[in-house]
Amino acid sequence: MIMITNNEVKISVEKPSGRSERHRPQFHFSPYRNWMNDPNGLITFNGKHHMYYQYNPHGNQWGHMSWGHATSVDLVHWSEHEVAIPEKEHMIFSGTTALDCDGKTLVAAYTSFEHGLNEKGELNALAQHQSIAKSFDGGFSFEAIAENPVIDIQSTEFRDPKLFFDQRTKKWNMLVCLSIAHTIHFYQSADLVTWEKVSEFGPLGNIDAVWECPDLFELKIGDGEMTKWVLTVSAGHPQQGYLGMQYFIGEYDGYAFQADALKYPLYLDYGKDFYAGITFANTGKKECAIMMGWVGCHLYSSKTPTEQWRGLMSLPRELYLSQMGSQTVLKSRPPQHYIEALLDRKWTREGLKIFNGAVTVPLGTKSFVASLVIGVGGAKKAGIQFLKSGNTATEVGLDLVNNEVFFDRSKSAGSTFHEKFPGKDTISIHPDWKSVQLDIFVDHSVVEVFIQDGHFTMTNLVFPEVDGTGIKLYADGGGALFEKVEIRTVKSIWK
Ligand code: FRU
Repeated sequence: MIMITNNEVKISVEKPSGRSERHRPQFHFSPYRNWMNDPNGLITFNGKHHMYYQYNPHGNQWGHMSWGHATSVDLVHWSEHEVAIPEKEHMIFSGTTALDCDGKTLVAAYTSFEHGLNEKGELNALAQHQSIAKSFDGGFSFEAIAENPVIDIQSTEFRDPKLFFDQRTKKWNMLVCLSIAHTIHFYQSADLVTWEKVSEFGPLGNIDAVWECPDLFELKIGDGEMTKWVLTVSAGHPQQGYLGMQYFIGEYDGYAFQADALKYPLYLDYGKDFYAGITFANTGKKECAIMMGWVGCHLYSSKTPTEQWRGLMSLPRELYLSQMGSQTVLKSRPPQHYIEALLDRKWTREGLKIFNGAVTVPLGTKSFVASLVIGVGGAKKAGIQFLKSGNTATEVGLDLVNNEVFFDRSKSAGSTFHEKFPGKDTISIHPDWKSVQLDIFVDHSVVEVFIQDGHFTMTNLVFPEVDGTGIKLYADGGGALFEKVEIRTVKSIWK
């Protein structure tokens, strides 16, 4: 399709009505066809949000990595465009974008992945170095600069640059992960070409898995004027052997990041499928940072039961700092307000008591948002089963014997494609919580759970049966009080 916008001709590959296959999310972004992983270069510019992403234009498996591209005005409805940075002699790995000092050029920093093939035809890593490309047409195409690579330390595990301009030093800053050393190198430059290493951060927190995709941003604490810097990195998971994201809170003086003495590791999400999240640049906000992450996991995403497309993006989540007593904590605001216009049929209850039994919610859907407030006490277990058909269902609720919030996909359908896929995630219920609020965003094959107003989150893939549209509220081993229940179906962004 050719679109003419603001006198510019853009080629669009958007297929608005063609995304209705089994498991295809209806209010989350996924590419029309082929493989997708990390979000790259998220930036707000000229009234549009640009999302680039790791994309294989040639197939539904990881490979030929390039930067796919989509834009949105509301962060929920997306138009997909031609690949913005295609693979040439090197693959284009993850990175970020920033607005140049002229206010109109977009600068992308990415890892160029140089590789060969071994005797078995498998990829053989030769180098990972950092490159710069510029866009003079508002982010639709990029030209690599002649001086690339701009940082090369002769490493094969050196990737995912976070680029930004720091007004204090009037210098460009770049953070790059030295992945297997679990450290982040900080660089500075006046011209984007010559870079000087100024500091290192890490190892700290979880060092079970490689470190990838760092991000660094400044946030206000609560409603005050005081700020802190937050450093995020994609790394290990609370359950050993899985991948997740961790964060550090501290100070950044334009040269080095100093983490506050907190109890690390601190995790951004307790599900198994929130990875490589980065925040939008150029939003002009310090109250919150808007993050999107890849809903997937390198352990098993190549085997997930979808065909034409593979991989999807989370909803935008607003990260903000909140003061709890003497501690500053990072929370993720549930994204209801982004999808307000899509909310449709509704089922609500207040003060619903369920004693050793279940209540069927007659909405029959795979796309909905459930907001539940469940009292702590009484039953042994209380919660919601959804994407349910026969004995298969996904379950989120409170385990009041072990005092945990849980997300259980072990009885969800389509979980046998990889041994690491079935399982349960948990997070302890805080002793002060008299009730627990769960905001659950369910969209065919993705579930994002925000616990206690985003104090904790859990994001997971699931693959329900074709007729897995059942929803039930239940309590086992006693009575549970569902203080508030609001369940709303969500309309498709692709129709
Ligand atoms: C994270 C990651 C990055 C790399 C990209 C390659 O998922 O492994 O470190 O740049 O994916 O697709």
